[in-house]
Amino acid sequence: MSPPAQTPDGDPWLLTPGPLSTSSAVKRAMLHDLGSRDQEFIGLTRRIRDGLLQIANGGEAQACIPVQGSGTFAVEAMLGTLLPRSGRLLNLVNGAYGRRVSRICDRLGRQFQELSVPEDQPVDPQQVERALRADTQLGHVHVVYCETTSGILNPLAEIAAVVAGQGRALLVDAMSAFGALPVDVTLPGIQAVAASANKCLEGVPGVAFCIAKKNALGAAAGNSHSLSLDLHDQWQALENNGQWRFTPPVQCLLALDQALQELAREGGPAARLRRYARNCAVLVEGMSALGFTPYLQATAQAPIIVTFLMPADPAFNFESFYTGLNRRGYVIYPGKLTGRDTFRIGCIGHIDETVMRGLLQAVREVLGELGVSVPLIT
Ligand SMILES: Cc1ncc(COP(=O)(O)O)c(C=O)c1O
Repeated sequence: MSPPAQTPDGDPWLLTPGPLSTSSAVKRAMLHDLGSRDQEFIGLTRRIRDGLLQIANGGEAQACIPVQGSGTFAVEAMLGTLLPRSGRLLNLVNGAYGRRVSRICDRLGRQFQELSVPEDQPVDPQQVERALRADTQLGHVHVVYCETTSGILNPLAEIAAVVAGQGRALLVDAMSAFGALPVDVTLPGIQAVAASANKCLEGVPGVAFCIAKKNALGAAAGNSHSLSLDLHDQWQALENNGQWRFTPPVQCLLALDQALQELAREGGPAARLRRYARNCAVLVEGMSALGFTPYLQATAQAPIIVTFLMPADPAFNFESFYTGLNRRGYVIYPGKLTGRDTFRIGCIGHIDETVMRGLLQAVREVLGELGVSVPLIT
């Protein structure tokens, strides 16, 4: 076996939905201490908030509120702050992250109704419209833009249009989309979008954020069940003196600042999407040539993460496949679907098609090692 592939920093390639492979410069940016009350840090926070807002086409009517923690912290903060305590949410579900929103609402004591569709089907805007017409108490709708469970793309703009048409407000989990897939917070209907630093933005984990309409934030005082996850209070504090209420993840923010500069240098989200789409095309083509079957129809697939069906060949064993790829410097991800045996390979992060081709070579080698005949039987 040739020596394992590695990043310029000597790490394995992370072909996962995040944390994912980051550039050397992003990691190096963290090698500093910065006082959290210092003007330099206040300026850094401002720059990041403005940069994120700009990526989402936001302006004077919206604010970006960073939150310490992983992506779920931002989703929970968004729901807890923007759903009135007596409110009712229509939760659109076609995967685990949609289901997580229902669990959050349960914990928060917010009423919700699920509109569930099969995990291999995008949410249908017409169904959303019918549900909203049927229940006028549903003030908000929540959708996961790219459902990372399968890698499916939900039709955000069409759903936003239906929600706006019915005079309701849309909350969006754009976790695995923000920074690559188009996000436009000025679309009528969209009230807020949550995402995190460590996916398509190619930063490191530890900071997430929500971009929300200022009028909605202003009306949300006192909604939140939580002190630390109160976006209204976090926003007010940041607006008042530019400072975070509680200890900020300084090094994560230094990394995110560098990551945002790299995104701009690449040509912004559209250019990043092109790189990811190329990664995805090379991956799907190569895996299909070996006999692997993608779970989703090509038309529903976002170029973020691809789910493959587990091959039926009895010689194929996922644990050994995973370990074999790991030993060759590639980290993939188990499946997360209910009812189908699958695994996933990410197309995002500081990787390009040469990494994907290296992975495909490693897949061929591991299949040989396992005694699996190619093309596979699925
Ligand atoms: C769509 C989506 N929502 C929410 C999350 C949760 O993010 P975290 O694991 O950072 O809390 C993820 C994580 O992969 C995700 O892909």
